[in-house]
Amino acid sequence: MESQTNEKILDVQNVTVSFDGFKALDDLDFSIRKGELRFVIGPNGAGKTTLLDVVTGKTRPASGKILFNGGVDVAHEMEHTLVRKGLGRKFQTPSVFASLSVYENLEAAVGFNDPTLSLLRGLNEEEEALIHDTLVLIGLSERMGVPAGILAHGEKQWLEIGMLLVQKPSLLLLDEPVAGMTRQERNRTGELLQSIAHRCSVVVVEHDMEFVRNFAKTVTVLHLGQLLCEGAVEDVQKDERVVKVYLGRAHA
Ligand SMILES: Nc1ncnc2c1ncn2[C@@H]1O[C@H](COP(=O)(O)OP(=O)(O)OP(=O)(O)O)[C@@H](O)[C@H]1O
Ligand SMILES: [Mg+2]
Repeated sequence: MESQTNEKILDVQNVTVSFDGFKALDDLDFSIRKGELRFVIGPNGAGKTTLLDVVTGKTRPASGKILFNGGVDVAHEMEHTLVRKGLGRKFQTPSVFASLSVYENLEAAVGFNDPTLSLLRGLNEEEEALIHDTLVLIGLSERMGVPAGILAHGEKQWLEIGMLLVQKPSLLLLDEPVAGMTRQERNRTGELLQSIAHRCSVVVVEHDMEFVRNFAKTVTVLHLGQLLCEGAVEDVQKDERVVKVYLGRAHA
């Protein structure tokens, strides 16, 4: 269908999140189209992680509405049901099974959403192919037999992204995926995110402005729980309000 590219995968409408009266998100509107790769930036405490928390059902909004994939009203869903419905989220610290091999980690992840427990029945051909494709995508084919515990920090992050991908999410949310990475690992991650965006929509929260400049097309800037500015990365970084907020942060 022609209209598909304009279809919203995520639609956050007038959402407020309050912690004892403090508004971490303040009447926020934020939406993502299918197949989009969106970067979300903003100073510490702007509400970026809270946005991911409220979208995944971890935190409940005081007011407003969040629609995922057309009809799914996040307020009425449990966190794990949202995962099954195609919402994947990666936290900052990698959480892989250290003693399992890279391959086994992906194998286990395929089973996460499967009530028939794929580990017991073994994988079918399609699932095996998916794991192999994912290994190529995350650049770990040659490392598939090694215990995940011995991987470098960057490799662990890629494995965890792979573990989300084999669950075939329609929207992937990543909180500061390049924190602690070397420059080479950051570039590799940027390329990975761009190729992932061909198969699902991706929201990346990031602090690293160099990374954002290199890999972002559209950027949303949050400040004090509100949308400060949104648009092409070239325009956003020239925006006076954005410069001021980031300078303010540098002075703080
Ligand atoms: N569970 C909570 N209870 C009370 N206050 C909270 C809670 N979670 C977040 N906050 C507050 O809400 C505001 C937004 O926090 P959030 O973690 O969303 O910011 P952020 O943009 O992710 O910042 P950072 O760049 O430092 O990760 C902060 O002032 C924070 O202290
Ligand atoms: Mg955060």
